[in-house]
Amino acid sequence: AIGNGTNIFWHECPVGKSERQKLLDQKGCVVWITGLSGSGKSTLACSLSRELHAKGKLSYVLDGDNLRHGLNKDLGFKFEDRTENIRRVGEVAKLFADAGLICIASLISPYRKDRDACRAMLPDLSFIEVYMNMPLELCEERDAKGLYKLARAKKIKGFTGIDDPYEPPLNCEIELSLQDGVCPPPGTMSGRVVTYLEEKG
Ligand code: PPS
Repeated sequence: AIGNGTNIFWHECPVGKSERQKLLDQKGCVVWITGLSGSGKSTLACSLSRELHAKGKLSYVLDGDNLRHGLNKDLGFKFEDRTENIRRVGEVAKLFADAGLICIASLISPYRKDRDACRAMLPDLSFIEVYMNMPLELCEERDAKGLYKLARAKKIKGFTGIDDPYEPPLNCEIELSLQDGVCPPPGTMSGRVVTYLEEKG
């Protein structure tokens, strides 16, 4: 155990990450999907998880909306809350990756500094940022939950893309966008992520 000067100690478990990875025959990592509400993050996450499962790879989806029902139910959407939301999910994702899983996190995660802080938690290149670069008009047209309509009517304040910022990644590993003006099917997009993961081992 190593002390950190605050009476809190770190206990090393004799079964380590490499042993778990060997058992699972895969490498733990975090696929972090960022983008506007309605850009298709959750759909991509599910398609990716399905595809990995079919290939015998263990994955787990951490979805922003879902986590706000439990782990993050005390958080709202103001700047500090979003930052805390991303910090918590980053920490949980790091644990999943350490467990040897392919952890797929799908959250708006609008602030670059918060995503970069998560990346910094996984220094061994095991953080793969996927940017769902879909136009706001498309997301708003989809409006599956009717939230854009409420935001436009000012019944929701601080909605990402309407009256709250979204900072696109500057250096993401994968960017997914419209092809010839249309959104590629989820399987095509998850296929791109799987190919990337395979290429990187
Ligand atoms: S964040 O910004 O990363 O903390 O957000 P996240 O945890 O991913 O949660 C996003 C979902 O919350 C719903 N919602 C809002 N989104 C953005 N802004 C505001 N004000 C807001 N209020 C509620 C919305 O359904 C988001 O779901 P997705 O899946 O992104 O569409």
